[in-house]
Amino acid sequence: MNSIWKKLLLGRIWKRIYVERLGEPLIYNLASIFVMLFGSTRSKIEYDVMPRHASAYSILAAADHAKSYGIKRLALLEFGVAAGAGLMNMCWIAERVTKETGVEFDIIGFDSGEGMPPPRDYRDHPEHYFTGDYPPIDKAALLKALPPNAKIYYGPIEQTLKQAEREITSTIGFISIDVDYFFSTEQSLEVLTWQPERYLPAVPMYFDDVAYIDHNRFCGELLAIDAFNDTHDLRKIAPVNFLPKYRIFKNALWHGQIYYAHILDHEFRGVAYNTTKRPKIAVLTNPYLSNP
Ligand SMILES: C[S@@+](CC[C@H](N)C(=O)[O-])C[C@H]1O[C@@H](n2cnc3c(N)ncnc32)[C@H](O)[C@@H]1O
Repeated sequence: MNSIWKKLLLGRIWKRIYVERLGEPLIYNLASIFVMLFGSTRSKIEYDVMPRHASAYSILAAADHAKSYGIKRLALLEFGVAAGAGLMNMCWIAERVTKETGVEFDIIGFDSGEGMPPPRDYRDHPEHYFTGDYPPIDKAALLKALPPNAKIYYGPIEQTLKQAEREITSTIGFISIDVDYFFSTEQSLEVLTWQPERYLPAVPMYFDDVAYIDHNRFCGELLAIDAFNDTHDLRKIAPVNFLPKYRIFKNALWHGQIYYAHILDHEFRGVAYNTTKRPKIAVLTNPYLSNP
């Protein structure tokens, strides 16, 4: 049996569907069946029926954002690839989002190729993650299965990111962080220190390891976010405002795993650029005035 369908045999998956999905209004659940069968990629993402909702939401958001700035090609980065399910899912979504929006993608993974390196101290959550966890399983099969616009940098992130900085040519559009440890996340976040024009002005980010009940801002990915924000004046990582309120299905866990990296020194966020871009001033009407 295909392993995606096999997941439906797991109790925890049904518990999540029950808690996150079936308690939502019946009308939305019925509509989502129709959308799953006949909907466009955009409507499938709106109704959370594409696998790995967080990546689907982020890749479409990045493509829409890119289009509004006339950017035609984006890089989607995944830190922590392991057996490759997340990266292959990103390739699958990217192909569909290209058809929907016209924006093209490079999909780029980073991984040791040997599973988790040794944790350094309590900040890496050794009680959850440890040396050798999540090995690649079948690297050759994974590399063979990837489409031509995808690539994996194997080796310690600290080293491979320097090579990637020289080689990546498309605009950074989405960053998924799934390296579990504080120190690995801190090293991955170095990706946000390049020249400002290499990014979208605001880059959607997914942090996988912030959702356990005992993840906290003194350890792991949450600590790395705080440490990054404390040491970078013009690059800030912040959660998305009101995301559940804008979604059809509001109970999903993944909403709390989405952040944006704000590239505050990006030209597109500057006064000079926006002065030349503005065709005219914005005006608000007032319905209380009878003769405006
Ligand atoms: C949880 S797994 C990734 C799972 C994958 N994102 C998925 O969705 O299928 C974490 C991976 O991060 C990688 N990793 C953690 N720290 C690393 C480091 N400092 N350098 C390179 N790889 C690292 C490990 O090799 C491991 O495979």
